Amino acid sequence: MKPKLFLAPMEGVTDWAMRDLLTDVGGIDQCVTEFLRVTDNLHSDEVFYKNCPELLTGSRTRSGTPVFVQLLGGKVEPLVRNAVRAQELGALGIDLNFGCPAKTVNRHDGGATLLKFTDRLYNIVKSVRDAVPKQTPVTAKIRLGFDDPTACLENAKAIEAAGADWLTVHCRTKTDGYKPPAYWEWIAKIKEVSKIKIITNGEIWNLEDYKNCAAIAQTEDYMIGRGALRNPFIFKQIKELHHQEQPTYQEIKILLPGFFNSSSNYVSAPFAVARTKGWLKQLAFTAPEFNELFDELKVITKPLEFRERLESL
Ligand SMILES: Cc1cc2nc3c(=O)[nH]c(=O)nc-3n(C[C@H](O)[C@H](O)[C@H](O)COP(=O)(O)O)c2cc1C
Repeated sequence: MKPKLFLAPMEGVTDWAMRDLLTDVGGIDQCVTEFLRVTDNLHSDEVFYKNCPELLTGSRTRSGTPVFVQLLGGKVEPLVRNAVRAQELGALGIDLNFGCPAKTVNRHDGGATLLKFTDRLYNIVKSVRDAVPKQTPVTAKIRLGFDDPTACLENAKAIEAAGADWLTVHCRTKTDGYKPPAYWEWIAKIKEVSKIKIITNGEIWNLEDYKNCAAIAQTEDYMIGRGALRNPFIFKQIKELHHQEQPTYQEIKILLPGFFNSSSNYVSAPFAVARTKGWLKQLAFTAPEFNELFDELKVITKPLEFRERLESL
């Protein structure tokens, strides 16, 4: 059976323009927005539309891939109100972020810090689950724990008991940060104590990693983040295991002008210049030609000139 593949939410990276591009390349079954931070208030509709422009197109990317809205926060009542509003605006599902390691977020009682409090995870998931219509999935994303990976066992059980539809597990603790490896072996341990559907996440950079991860985790679903930036074709490669060739510089470079243009529309042209340069840096890990291109483009600041150079590629 083919796996179901998720594009990871990545704040400042997998925004609307990147989701649009990657789902157009293909192989992605599901996206999640960058986190929308919830403190005390209900966000305005504009904020929801900015976080998830796909709300205006049936909560799907232009190529038809469903997008869930991700909320991050520690207070039950505001999370409930924002989840309900997101659903009213058309979100196909609500994902709750309990994995963010950022210091400012954790200091304000959001993200991975909640992994220390199983009862709070339960309350948040249960309250959001009870508040949005049954047919709207409510899902959660965790790390293995804050500093103790065994926390994932009780946390997964609580999230299941609270009624979540599925659980994404980034197989590292908050203290591990982004340091390799990802401990995929914890997925089997979670499956011993919980029946919740699990999406395995962390350190899948290429086909080989996927095969190793799948052999260990043995889930039906996988989520990929940074690997997709270095190889936009990774989802397709996994889906069509016969298509094992690494994409060439030629195949990837033609994606750049489209990304720049949609980024310019979504944010602003100067910001799109910065975003495209950031992506080029990631692509430089895939093909050395991108390094040369980055060196050439990094000095260009005028959007018009930047666009012309991309279009001449
Ligand atoms: C720059 C960046 C931003 C991220 N933002 C989010 C986010 O908004 N919500 C979330 O749940 N995870 C976020 N993550 C974590 C990723 O979704 C994912 O769990 C992590 O990168 C591990 O997967 P990977 O090894 O495939 O990249 C972010 C990661 C990075 C590198």
